[in-house]
Amino acid sequence: MTRVFVLTNHKGGVGKSTSATNIAFGLTGLLRRAGAANCRVLLIDTDSQSHATLVTTGRNDFGTDDSLYSVLMADRQAAPQVMASVIVQSHWDADLHVLPASALLEGGERELMGVAGAPYRLADPLSRIAGHYAAVVIDTRPSFSLMTEMALVAATDAIIPVEPRYLETVGLLSVMNKINDVREGWRRPDLRVSGILVTKMDSRVKGHNHLLDELKSHNILGRLLCGVIPANEAVSYAHREHVSIFAHDPKAPASHAYAQLIGTLVKRLKGSAA
Ligand SMILES: Nc1ncnc2c1ncn2[C@@H]1O[C@H](COP(=O)(O)OP(=O)(O)O)[C@@H](O)[C@H]1O
Ligand SMILES: [Mg+2]
Repeated sequence: MTRVFVLTNHKGGVGKSTSATNIAFGLTGLLRRAGAANCRVLLIDTDSQSHATLVTTGRNDFGTDDSLYSVLMADRQAAPQVMASVIVQSHWDADLHVLPASALLEGGERELMGVAGAPYRLADPLSRIAGHYAAVVIDTRPSFSLMTEMALVAATDAIIPVEPRYLETVGLLSVMNKINDVREGWRRPDLRVSGILVTKMDSRVKGHNHLLDELKSHNILGRLLCGVIPANEAVSYAHREHVSIFAHDPKAPASHAYAQLIGTLVKRLKGSAA
């Protein structure tokens, strides 16, 4: 079964898109270096703001005929074919493919509200083409909307990026409850929280260290901690250049941290598959 990672948190600006894009790119590279026969990774952008789409493809003008919107609006039978046809190659790596978001997704979501089977409109077609990929990574919008529910229903492994601030970590448990609700309510037993990712960590800030220590010593959350990404201006420069953090500066602290995270994720996947 292809693992489907979803980066989710109802807060904006916590590093969901940065993490989704760099994890997807990093997985492709790691698989290639390991000599895997299939190194293809699919990045799905479910946020109408299209940030992940923009930085990986250089475009954010996808619409009715060439984006995730087309998949969600397609007839059920035709949806897998439509999905396959709108996926594009990223600029970052020939094996990193992108299912682009569109500004139309917001309206599309409203149209689908209350339509029977709406939460499965991403999961169903994805299940038909996911076998083509070694892994799938989904970026989500900063809210628990129908679109995010669709992303969770389609996923196996939720990763929650969180900034090391008090109110952000308070919100963590509600994010975890939401994921559990989707698992139980929509009968997705494969979906689980597989990691909490601390982002924008500034070790010079006392409060950041304090919260990280608290997280580490928490009996449930501590075990889920899968990485700590430092606050690093290189991330913004990489975005501006529409390149991955690794291509912008492989020696940047954030590159090291993301490489370590990707190694941890792959190890955890291997461990849970055994
Ligand atoms: N580790 C980091 N260090 C510094 N800035 C970061 C880091 N991660 C993300 N950012 C910046 O924070 C902003 C929000 O990041 P983004 O990934 O778009 O968050 P989200 O998708 O959760 O809204 C962006 O301007 C991005 O450049
Ligand atoms: Mg985002």
